Amino acid sequence: MSNLGEKNPYAPILTKLVKTWVEGSQDKVKNMLLDFISVEDRVGFSHKPGQFCMLSISGCSETPFTIASSPAEDSDGILFVIEEKGSFTEAFYNAEVGSTVLMRGPLGKPFPIQEFLGRDILIVGDKGHLAPVRALLQYIIHPQQRGDFGLISVVLGHDAPSLLTAEQVEKIDEIGSIRISQLSRSVANEIEHARSLISAIREVSPEPSNSCAIMSCDNTTLPYLMRGVAEMGFDPVRVLFIINRAIRCGVGKCGRCNIGHRFTCIDGPAFSLKELEKLKFDV
Ligand code: FES
Repeated sequence: MSNLGEKNPYAPILTKLVKTWVEGSQDKVKNMLLDFISVEDRVGFSHKPGQFCMLSISGCSETPFTIASSPAEDSDGILFVIEEKGSFTEAFYNAEVGSTVLMRGPLGKPFPIQEFLGRDILIVGDKGHLAPVRALLQYIIHPQQRGDFGLISVVLGHDAPSLLTAEQVEKIDEIGSIRISQLSRSVANEIEHARSLISAIREVSPEPSNSCAIMSCDNTTLPYLMRGVAEMGFDPVRVLFIINRAIRCGVGKCGRCNIGHRFTCIDGPAFSLKELEKLKFDV
């Protein structure tokens, strides 16, 4: 579901790259802030955590990127996190400030935040897959929303940057009831990596019976993590996984992104563990 309304879903919005920066010691991962060229587009754009946009830039085909900024954040634009991994993302990674970027969106189904109300929240994010969970975390820690949720537990891969701003890290006590755990080292084997994430989840010890969990990782780690959290006793309805699929049209027309009879671009990109089990999901 997108909130494009009656707008032509293929018509891009003109934006400009206004800022790029690297968080911490990230290798090949860069933040990219886009701003609208027209005031009308800026005013007319609204998104929710979990949604994505199709971006295109000179020298590169249209590519999907999840929106990393929260609608609750004070920001001078829309934030995307670009990981350089091949020709599709290279042009974005190397783009210079001032470049024109065409943007379609927001697309995809937002996270079902209403279902998270009153519950503890577990967020798991691996390097290269942080944008959706950053948008969610920034949304739920905003002072206007923070009281609607219980304990927040965050587990990050070993070289993932903090999902918090430097100012938020300095004043972390003001956020209230937040535990953050980061893997101390990388392991080459995906089973070991998934085990490390599961151990870190146990360390921050969210109470599975009262928690909603949202997990964003690569396709190789995902099945192990699915099994791990199911064994820990999380309710499969309240554990969401962000699914990485090739997205082309973004609006449910081309059939490129299907999982069974569902489309990642309009029914996802987040699916509950229960939905994935029903769809006999296989990476
Ligand atoms: S990308 Fe075309 S149907 Fe999903």
